[in-house]
Amino acid sequence: TKYKVGYMVGSLATHSINRTLSKVLIRLAPPDLEFDEISIRDLPLYSYDYDSDFPAEGRKLKSSITSADAILFVTPEYNRSIPGALKNAIDWASRPWGDNSFTHKPSAVIGASPGAIGTAIAQQSLRSVLSYCNSPQMNAPEAYIRFSPEVFTADGHVTSSETEEFLRRFMEEFRDHIVRVLSVLPPRKK
Ligand code: FNR
Repeated sequence: TKYKVGYMVGSLATHSINRTLSKVLIRLAPPDLEFDEISIRDLPLYSYDYDSDFPAEGRKLKSSITSADAILFVTPEYNRSIPGALKNAIDWASRPWGDNSFTHKPSAVIGASPGAIGTAIAQQSLRSVLSYCNSPQMNAPEAYIRFSPEVFTADGHVTSSETEEFLRRFMEEFRDHIVRVLSVLPPRKK
């Protein structure tokens, strides 16, 4: 069986280190995971005024989450939280009321920063949001990635075999998490 993972990169930056990390994760993932990016770039800023007439960008976001088996968040830490663009996308996907696209959708969280704590505080904040959105998250392993260009090369390779092994295991654990969640929570197709 193949599992479809939709991944969201929390950064809109052209040279995002988290986008680089996402490429590495896709390369190291077990072969039964396949990946599609869920873009957060073109969404307007959410307001519940849109709920009665959801725009195309919002519907596209929701349908790409619904059609994925699981969601992977690869996010930077901005001011000790998640970037506004990512929070905006989550707010869109959680609405209109009663139609929260994250319900029962397995997820995992990872992120990279040049700083020593490797997005730990942003991830903690994202975990609270995903708990409220009723997404069964992978609890462990946690992955707080300290990014350096010596370890993560521009062409998506990892020069440290220890780091590479850790990231490979993270993706294997994510696959196991997806299998476990789907075995007890049937996907809600809408
Ligand atoms: C940052 N950065 C940052 N780093 C961190 O570890 N903790 C933080 O709270 C912040 N805060 C912060 C705010 C804003 C507005 C910016 C632009 C940056 C630095 C950040 O980790 C660095 O710019 C990374 O390159 C961001 O990841 P992407 O966007 O390149 O994927």
